[in-house]
Amino acid sequence: MAHFLEIDRITKVFGTTSAGAAAINVIDGISMNIDEGEVVVFLGPSGCGKSTLMRMVGGLETPTTGRIVLEGREVKGPDRQKGMVFQSYSSFPWLKVLDNVRFGLRFRTDIDAAEKDRIARHYLRMVGLGDFEDYWVNRISGGMRQRVAIARTFAAGPDILLMDEPFGALDAQNREFLQLQLRDLCLKERKTVIFVTHDVEEAVFLADRIFVFSARPAKILEEIAIRDLLPAERDIKLRESETFFNLRNRILGLTRTQALRSEQMEVSQ
Ligand SMILES: Nc1ncnc2c1ncn2[C@@H]1O[C@H](COP(=O)(O)OP(=O)(O)O)[C@@H](O)[C@H]1O
Ligand SMILES: [Mg+2]
Repeated sequence: MAHFLEIDRITKVFGTTSAGAAAINVIDGISMNIDEGEVVVFLGPSGCGKSTLMRMVGGLETPTTGRIVLEGREVKGPDRQKGMVFQSYSSFPWLKVLDNVRFGLRFRTDIDAAEKDRIARHYLRMVGLGDFEDYWVNRISGGMRQRVAIARTFAAGPDILLMDEPFGALDAQNREFLQLQLRDLCLKERKTVIFVTHDVEEAVFLADRIFVFSARPAKILEEIAIRDLLPAERDIKLRESETFFNLRNRILGLTRTQALRSEQMEVSQ
């Protein structure tokens, strides 16, 4: 049966086109299938190739070999089917908070202005900015701007959300709050998400499934079906549970050896 997203024997080598540059083997034959409504996390050490694989799903990079098929069509470039959130997302400073989120809906001709407002407000509430819709974006904190960017990407209604360390620049409280909101949102609205992080606890808290990447060139070291180990609904208390703690420790053990390996690679290059 065809899957919602098929990542089929992907490899990526950088530097083969520009004269003189040494080729870097980044992705070493990765395959995976993702179903609609799943939250999948790519977890691995810095520089291993997580963003590169996600960018290929988003159509921002082309695989060297292999193919990526989303809803039956091979990914050829970026489009509105795929919504992307990066670590530092530029919001539009000349627009107010609500208008920033509405901006994500500008292409929708099937709904009227009132419906666009309703959708924008819904996602603003989800990211905890319900009371800030009339603020200018350049007057709110960086953490709040990132929430605006997340709300805008969700409001645009892509088929798949690609989130590349979106909480990476936030403080611990903001991070935890947004992890909770995101998990809740995905569950309620059955969003299909690929979430990239190097933070093990974030991965365990958010994921239905985690793919643990090896050091570069990236292979899948292990696939962990978190959905079989933790309840679908997750709250703050879960982080203190024994199951969570054991999972975290097991995965930390896996990633620790990989992080060491990538450091050794950096040194020997
Ligand atoms: N456009 C590019 N050209 C050359 N090398 C790149 C390019 N993009 C990424 N890389 C290299 O590919 C490797 C993986 O990068 P990346 O996917 O960003 O890792 P991660 O997201 O896991 O930290 C790194 O060594 C990086 O320097
Ligand atoms: Mg990255």
